[in-house]
Amino acid sequence: MLRLTNIKKSYGISGTERLEVLKGIDLQVGKGEIVAIVGQSGAGKSTLLHIIGTLDRPDSGTYEFNGSEVMNLNDKKISEFRNKEIGFIFQFHHLLPEFTALENVMIASMIGGRDDKSAAERMLAEVGLKNRMNHKPSELSGGESQRVAIARALVNSPGLILADEPTGNLDSENSEAIMELIFELRKKLGKTFIIVTHNDSFASRCDRVISLQDGKVIGTRLLNSIETE
Ligand SMILES: Nc1ncnc2c1ncn2[C@@H]1O[C@H](COP(=O)(O)OP(=O)(O)OP(=O)(O)O)[C@@H](O)[C@H]1O
Ligand SMILES: [Mg+2]
Repeated sequence: MLRLTNIKKSYGISGTERLEVLKGIDLQVGKGEIVAIVGQSGAGKSTLLHIIGTLDRPDSGTYEFNGSEVMNLNDKKISEFRNKEIGFIFQFHHLLPEFTALENVMIASMIGGRDDKSAAERMLAEVGLKNRMNHKPSELSGGESQRVAIARALVNSPGLILADEPTGNLDSENSEAIMELIFELRKKLGKTFIIVTHNDSFASRCDRVISLQDGKVIGTRLLNSIETE
């Protein structure tokens, strides 16, 4: 599904000084895989996820998605690509507080150019929140809020979901439930997930674990080989 080759990224920090954050990353992910990215704070995990999500551009390297080179697209095409193909889940749910769960998911659908209320309802039902659609974020638990964020990530039917510490802000019971949900969504909807996590038990249940250190891949652990495209 996607292939990154020799991806490099640096940030200007002061005057002429640059901080090299990604130092030549190679990564392939197949359709339907669940890949964990682990590594210490500052290793470059979020930076890598942002590049995969086209929220940030690499300095060099190539990024193929379903056979097309993403970096050749202009800004407009890149946003279209992102809206269509990629869903994001973050550590904090970032729901809009004055809107209900359903409205929060519908807003994402509108941004995706669909404005599809029934898709929003279906996704909320899919994440187990059929009876919480009209609750505002302040009327939802942490785990429920994160489920709304997952429904929001899925509403435009992206093939690839990127999650940056999706259980980082949850207690162990809610973390477990979110993990179960992610595996269930892969099984039912065939979604592909790339998940940055500090949670070892989560990582060890993924198909593959990529370890990053200081901007480089230092190890890959294959835990479950699935047939992918
Ligand atoms: N916009 C930026 N400008 C300058 N430096 C940055 C920028 N974004 C990230 N960095 C630096 O790049 C390095 C990698 O950051 P990144 O957020 O990718 O780490 P991470 O692996 O996700 O860490 P954590 O586990 O703490 O979330 C860090 O040293 C960070 O300070
Ligand atoms: Mg991070």
